[in-house]
This record gives sequence, C-alpha cells and structure tokens, in this order.
Amino acid sequence: MSSFKLSTEIRYYNQLPEFIQEFSVTKDDLIITNEVIYDNSFKLYGTDWNVLFQEAYGLGEPNDKMINKLIADAQKKKYNRIIAVGGGTVIDIGKLLSLQGVDDVLDVLYGKVPIKKGKTLIVLPTTCGTGSEVTNISILEDTTNKVKKGIVHQYLFPDFAVLVPELLKGLPFKFFAFSSVDALIHAIESYLAPKSNPMTELFGVKAMELIINTYKDVAEKGQQAAYENIGKVLLASTYAGIAFGNTGVGAVHALSYPLGGKYHVAHGEANYAFFDAVMKKYDEVNPTGKITQIKEIIAGILDLPAGGNAFAELNVLINKLVPRKPLREYGMKADDLAPFTKNAMEQERLMINNYVPFTADDVLKIYKDLY
Ligand SMILES: NC(=O)c1ccc[n+]([C@@H]2O[C@H](COP(=O)([O-])OP(=O)(O)OC[C@H]3O[C@@H](n4cnc5c(N)ncnc54)[C@H](O)[C@@H]3O)[C@@H](O)[C@H]2O)c1
Ligand SMILES: [Fe+2]
Repeated sequence: MSSFKLSTEIRYYNQLPEFIQEFSVTKDDLIITNEVIYDNSFKLYGTDWNVLFQEAYGLGEPNDKMINKLIADAQKKKYNRIIAVGGGTVIDIGKLLSLQGVDDVLDVLYGKVPIKKGKTLIVLPTTCGTGSEVTNISILEDTTNKVKKGIVHQYLFPDFAVLVPELLKGLPFKFFAFSSVDALIHAIESYLAPKSNPMTELFGVKAMELIINTYKDVAEKGQQAAYENIGKVLLASTYAGIAFGNTGVGAVHALSYPLGGKYHVAHGEANYAFFDAVMKKYDEVNPTGKITQIKEIIAGILDLPAGGNAFAELNVLINKLVPRKPLREYGMKADDLAPFTKNAMEQERLMINNYVPFTADDVLKIYKDLY
C-alpha cells in the first residue's frame, strides 16, 4: 500500500517582513532560533520580540537535556504560537515544544505519556536539508544511551512551513553542503523505498535535479553559486521532505545515527559517510530493480555518456563539497563496531524502508569497510 499526505500549509515569501505582516507576528508569539540567525532577521525589523536562543541550552543537534531545559523556560513564558526559525535542530525542538503537557521529552520518546497537540507551530527553515518543516518527525539524542532516535506522530506536522530564501544568505557553506546532501539522500532513499509511489517520485526527482544541478554550478563557479541558487535548494529540501515524509528513509540514515549520536558528526555529513556503501550493497543484491531507474535519472542530470557509472560520478561531485573520511577520523573506535551494528539494526522504523533487506552481517561489513 502506498499513499500520499501533506498536512502542512506551505507559504513562500521573498522577504521576512511580508511574513511578519501576514502572520501578524508580535511578542505574543514565542520565537525559537539561534542568535546568529536572529541578528540577520527579526532583529532587523524590531526589538520587541519574545525569543529563546537554542544554543543557550546546549550546543549541537538536539538532545533530551537541551530540550528539557528549553521546555522548562518556555513554560515560564506566556505566548500563543511557536515560531521556529532555524535548521533541523531548532525545528525539531520547536515541534516538541508545541506539544501539550510535556515536562520530560524522554517520556514522549519512550511512549510514557500520550502525545497531545498544544500550540500552533510555524516553521521557517534556515538550512536547506532536513525537510523537517513538512514532516511529522522529531529527532533527538537520548544522552543516557548515546543514541539518536526519532519520534513520529501526526501532531508533529508543523501547521505552517514558511520558506523565505533570504534567511539562508548567512548560512555557512559547510552547513549548506551538509544540509543539502541530507536532502539529496532523502530524495534518493525515498525513491528506492518500498512505499515510494508516483507522487513521492515527482517531488524526489525534482529535488535531485535542483540539488545536483546546484552542485555542478558550485564545482564550476565556486561557493557563491550555492547562494545564487539558495532559493532552489531550499525548495528542493522541502520537496525531498514531502517525498520522504511519505515513504520514510532507510539504511543510510539508520547507519548514520549511531555515529551522529556518539561522536556528534553533523547529520548530513554522517549520512554521506554511508551513502556510497549502502547504494553499492543495494546494487549488488538487486541490480535490476528500481535502482536502475535512479541511476538513469542521476546519469541524466549529470549528463553522463551511456554506460557511465552514475553513483560513482555523483560521489566525485559531492566529495568536492563534503569530503568523505574513514569512520575512525570522525572519532569511531574499533570497539564501536558491534554496538553500532546493533543500534543500526534496532532502527526498525528506518530499516523497513530499505530497497533490499539488510542483515546484521551486512551492516557490520559496511562499518568495517568504512572504518
Ligand atoms: N525531523 C526531520 O524530519 C529531520 C530530517 C532530517 C534531519 N533532521 C535533524 O535535523 C538536525 C540537523 O539539522 P540541520 O542540518 O538543518 O542543521 P542544524 O539545525 O543543526 O544547523 C547547523 C548549524 O548551522 C547554523 N545555522 C542554521 N541556519 C543558519 C543560517 N541561516 N545562518 C547562519 N547559521 C545557521 C546553526 O546554528 C547550527 O550551528 C539533526 O538533528 C537531524 O537529525 C530532522
Ligand atoms: Fe536526514
């Protein structure tokens, strides 16, 4: 069975003041963001905002401790709506804050309290990768067990996803690269997932096209080409979010979570570390299935001659933006091989979306080969 659902209303504005005016944003709304983003956005259009800076609660991607401290402070404030302005970190935290009656986010993660819709949630992405603005997923690290896990629920769909490309003009190139490669992997994993269907393919293929063409531009003209194309890549990341929000993502994400959780490797960079190896395994086990279509699509976007190796060429291109390193250079130790394999296999929510099933031996071999 396959289906297609989009629960979030999407708005697109050229400038932030248009959003502020149309949504009548005031200090009765709680803005969650990062100071660097705030200085280049809301601060330019007034000072009387009700703001919490995510980094004041902990650095890096979301974890239970950071989120619980933020929830405690948000509960002391009076506000009507939550406006999350940031990358996947800020957005995923905003989603959890919008729920009702949560004191400890681990209770939500482990199903100890029912999930209830609370505040209206408006999301403005400032990276171009996660697609979280249109998904019902929030990802966090459980710091006790040092693992990344996802919470999936209908009430985690933002009410509004607001795309404003100018918010991304200060995005450091490194985070442009990490986040856009995440979006590209969302589109590819979604296309190969069993729940993929003509609707999700439409969004996934368009996302691949916009991102790979931008990478070609960057390889040819330099980093400024990323910013010239930023509106397209922002759209692509939302498209990829729509695609994978319906199909799920698979083994690339499952294998990357232990690395991201334990060694705090940025999500997109961690995904890219496993992308090539997972595609190679897929191709080895079932070379005549849907993977042939995706190779043709990628070869077409890359203008490869007949017989060209699409995944190999794509990796050459991506490596110019996100150099891939052996896993030990991200901090991984030989002792991690077994627990990482166990942890990746336990990400059943993701592993069921694989193009071909993976055994623990397959996963261990990938970790060993990349180590
Ligand atoms: N919920 C989902 O559907 C979903 C999907 C994929 C990933 N994720 C999660 O999203 C997180 C990663 O998000 P991300 O890749 O967007 O990175 P991020 O949100 O962690 O941001 C990376 C860095 O860029 C900075 N930054 C962001 N926007 C900026 C801007 N416009 N200008 C200057 N600095 C800016 C941030 O402050 C941060 O330091 C991970 O936790 C990942 O697991 C969630
Ligand atoms: Fe992702």
